[in-house]
Amino acid sequence: MLSSSLVRVLTLVGTLLAFLLPATSADASSPLRTHASARGKFIGAALATSPLSNETSYRNIAATEFSQVTAENAMKWDATEPSQGQFNFSGADAIVNFATQNNQQVHGHTLVWHNQTPGWVQGLSATAMRSAMQNHISQVVGRYASNATVVSWDVVNEVFDDNGNLRTSFWYNTLGQSYIADAFRAARAADSNARLCINDYNVEGINAKSTAMYNLVSSLRQQGVPVDCVGFQGHLAIQYGFPNDLQQNLQRFADLGVQVRITELDVRMQMPRDASKDATQATYYRNVVNACLNVTACAGVTIWGFTDKYSWVPDTFQGQGAALIYDENYQPKSSYNAVHDALAGGTTTDTTPPTTPGTPVAGNVTSNSAGLTWTASTDSGGSGLAGYNVYREQGATDPLGQSTTNSITLTGLSPETQYQVYVRARDGAGNLSANSPLVTFTTTAGQGGGGCTAAGTVQTQWNNGYVVQPVTVTNTGTSSMSGWTVTFTLPAGHTLTGSWNASVSVSGQTVTARNAGHNGTLAPNTGTTFGFQASRPNGNTQTPSGYTCA
Ligand code: G3I
Repeated sequence: MLSSSLVRVLTLVGTLLAFLLPATSADASSPLRTHASARGKFIGAALATSPLSNETSYRNIAATEFSQVTAENAMKWDATEPSQGQFNFSGADAIVNFATQNNQQVHGHTLVWHNQTPGWVQGLSATAMRSAMQNHISQVVGRYASNATVVSWDVVNEVFDDNGNLRTSFWYNTLGQSYIADAFRAARAADSNARLCINDYNVEGINAKSTAMYNLVSSLRQQGVPVDCVGFQGHLAIQYGFPNDLQQNLQRFADLGVQVRITELDVRMQMPRDASKDATQATYYRNVVNACLNVTACAGVTIWGFTDKYSWVPDTFQGQGAALIYDENYQPKSSYNAVHDALAGGTTTDTTPPTTPGTPVAGNVTSNSAGLTWTASTDSGGSGLAGYNVYREQGATDPLGQSTTNSITLTGLSPETQYQVYVRARDGAGNLSANSPLVTFTTTAGQGGGGCTAAGTVQTQWNNGYVVQPVTVTNTGTSSMSGWTVTFTLPAGHTLTGSWNASVSVSGQTVTARNAGHNGTLAPNTGTTFGFQASRPNGNTQTPSGYTCA
């Protein structure tokens, strides 16, 4: 037996070592998975089977950086049961074997979905379809039930349409709503240990669709249906703004007693990439990771791929891309650093301000607005570039405007007034750069030969969202216009979720809508329209205001 004084000495040495060594084995250069594990979360990636078997760089990053993987396509119905009763697990097994070799978990995606399901399923009668669904779940989940690698499943995927109604898919049309509960029960019967999830997109913020999801999950659980987890896909785009109520939304689901997770994160942008868009994207990634870190019941974050070389985005959204955290040459982007630093959280404090923005250049100066662009700043302090503040007076503390990109349209200016403005960049830790050089411009006279007006009509609204259609834009001047810019203000907490017939950007709560290619030219006294959709906090009845046109 150890003497008590020796025990005391050993305890003291242990305490000293614990004090001198970091609390976890994660240091600044550790991969994402090390930091994630230290925070009790997983960090995942969706993997495609072809580069996984053919490309060393792909394999190495997939193995080193992530603690969980999802098959991007290999576990879907068209891959696993292309003909009735003929199962093919070659792709699925390749992913599971890779994960097992690399000490990773697998999240199974997906059992019951309206996409990538073979025609033979869709044509079945109700009785045959229900039994085909139960058999499919039993075979696919059952295959990996005793395999400790596969820990969870997306049992049903995307059961809602964008308004929050149950999607009228062939599943719903043939079987009614009961297919959802039946799918969960079949999955539980096939694997009593796997965590069973419902998964969807456009449910990151609090909106009609996420509230419908919330109500469904709550009701299923009250009926004893084994729904253990809710997946928020997280297909975001920098031009539509960040869902600022993400954390609040995750928490309200967590309060139902379910686990939550981000399942398919990517942040697309209009191509080409530039430093400013990359910086905004990095902020989105950081915010998502932080939201998950701040919600105890959030298990982790999965990114939908990891390299821009392999992403579904360019095939689906024309002209958009660069949505992931490595570029096409497997080089980490700012968004990688953002995920890394958020997971490493608190181990470093960023006190380094961003570099000074370039001299702003003014353009499109009207009686009440002006456009500014400037050379983007960079941030090396670790927290990443978060955006820019534009100030009118030296020493001012209230910005005239804020932007997440290196341009802005200042609105609400006074006619025939000289403005001297400068820009400061800010990082994720709140550090502000030095002032950029000044730019001076003078707004034009109020009423003249030019001018346009804008007015928005709320077409439809629901508890936590609305559609404004049409926003009418009218050329009230005496000469033809070759382009227009409409700005308006979203009330606090509202988030733009879509738009049409205009090119839209969001800065804070200010929305700037510019003409699309087809509706910029307006003869005097003619007009055009565009529309948009937004979400708002539950019960809030406000709608946008302050439509101005220039
Ligand atoms: O495998 C065939 C190949 O044989 C053929 O030559 C080629 C020609 O187009 O198509 C290949 O299949 C493509 C498949 O991806 C595999 O690459 C399909 O056309 C293509 O539609 C399919 O896209 C997938 C998409 O789901 C289909 O719905 C994407 O890779 C995948 O990232 C995407 O993932 C979904 C999630 O499952 C659910 N949430 C949304 C997410 C993004 O859409």
